[in-house]
Amino acid sequence: MKLTIAEKLLIRSPLRAYMLRRLEAPRVLSDLGIGERSVCLDTGCGSGIGALLINQYLDCEKVVGIDVDPDMVTTAEECLSHPPKWARNIRTDNIEFLCEDATRSAFPDCHFDAVFLFGVLHHIKGWKGLISEVYRMLKEGGVFSFSEETLLPDFLFHFGKPGLCAAYELFGGTPISEGELKATLEGSGFSIQRFEKKLSMCFVRATKEGP
Ligand SMILES: C[S@@+](CC[C@H](N)C(=O)[O-])C[C@H]1O[C@@H](n2cnc3c(N)ncnc32)[C@H](O)[C@@H]1O
Repeated sequence: MKLTIAEKLLIRSPLRAYMLRRLEAPRVLSDLGIGERSVCLDTGCGSGIGALLINQYLDCEKVVGIDVDPDMVTTAEECLSHPPKWARNIRTDNIEFLCEDATRSAFPDCHFDAVFLFGVLHHIKGWKGLISEVYRMLKEGGVFSFSEETLLPDFLFHFGKPGLCAAYELFGGTPISEGELKATLEGSGFSIQRFEKKLSMCFVRATKEGP
């Protein structure tokens, strides 16, 4: 789903960039154990800061950022041509932004070494389908690492589901519970390596195991 105007302002703000740099990137992008010259995907790339951070942490051959909203793709491209001061030494020539729906993208099977999401899952109604898509696009042994901002404890989710769905829908999102997320990852074939909760946020790392 596309963001509201208020959400777009927040995603483009220095506050969001600060959160990504200080809170999310260290947990999503450190100690991944993927090889050099990797090909990486930032799904729901928003302002493009995530793609810069991927290049800051990893030795990538290519970083692709996709977003369903053409406005956000334009913002991300502008971020590459005029990166913020802290990012001026980060490589940009291997980054490409595309307007694509992550739930049915055109990338071939087993294409990426790593797929990242920064705060995107609850914005996607078909998030379970997205997880299957990520599995399909990853190489064997590839890593799926992401941050999720509004993961709900299972009891709250089951107790308040109708109200929660209505509230989330107002903002074009969907509520996700911890148990549902874990079951969907495992049901899609992922092996969960890390599931770290911090305040209302959650940091997940899963791998696509070989046969
Ligand atoms: C909350 S923003 C996060 C943006 C960025 N990752 C960040 O951390 O600042 C969610 C982003 O996901 C994008 N998005 C939503 N549904 C999508 C889909 N089906 N495919 C690709 N991108 C999507 C939105 O347009 C938006 O830019």
